[in-house]
Amino acid sequence: MSWRDFWNSEHAIYVSPRHKALHYRQIATDLIGHIPAPDAVVLDHGCGEALDAARIALACGRLYLCEAAPSVREKLRAMLGAKANVSVVSPEEVEALPDATFDLVVANSLIQYLTRSELVALLATWREKLKPGGRLVIADVIPPDVSPLTDASQLLAFAWRGGFLGAALAGLVRTAFSDYRKLRAQYGLSTYREDEIRGIIAGAGFADIGRDKNFGHNPHRMTFVGRKPA
Ligand SMILES: C[S@@+](CC[C@H](N)C(=O)[O-])C[C@H]1O[C@@H](n2cnc3c(N)ncnc32)[C@H](O)[C@@H]1O
Repeated sequence: MSWRDFWNSEHAIYVSPRHKALHYRQIATDLIGHIPAPDAVVLDHGCGEALDAARIALACGRLYLCEAAPSVREKLRAMLGAKANVSVVSPEEVEALPDATFDLVVANSLIQYLTRSELVALLATWREKLKPGGRLVIADVIPPDVSPLTDASQLLAFAWRGGFLGAALAGLVRTAFSDYRKLRAQYGLSTYREDEIRGIIAGAGFADIGRDKNFGHNPHRMTFVGRKPA
């Protein structure tokens, strides 16, 4: 099984429906905070099930939800129906869009599942598809020194605040025996030092690269913003 197969499968990365709902609510709130104008065209690349996408769509002009996993795209289409200003697209369909389509591109919890060369290729696509002056946000980047134990303790803290601690404890035990753990051990996750990821983003032609508050519940991971030069 590859990461791609894993995301296309019925995985149990969320420990309960409440965990999943609270996760996507937080990610939507964090993403909305970066929308530059009510008519902005926004791409959420690697959006997952995006349970709160309708709220994001209300806060922008048009929302593109890009997902590599066909089963997740089906779920998104079923959830969103024919919402006028939302398009569910594959990575190939993003490639086929006209250049300078987006005001904002966001990728949360995506790049750890990509190789470095896949990230560099995606950065080139994002630069091409952003309007001059458009913004890029890459969130939940894992630094090399954050261990799975830190991830687990952050999940437990989130679960305590969110009222799903019992499910989180059971979920952590399940994860220890899951495909996720096996894949994490087999392929690892791509991690980046701050100077390294800044260099990669700058090397792809972005300017004004800065650090921002991380998306979601784990402050040990990092969020970076950049701008396509006008
Ligand atoms: C950890 S999930 C993150 C989902 C969501 N962004 C969130 O914050 O919850 C990663 C998602 O990225 C998708 N993905 C992986 N590689 C991708 C790619 N090259 N293009 C688009 N989606 C991708 C996976 O199918 C999976 O749904």
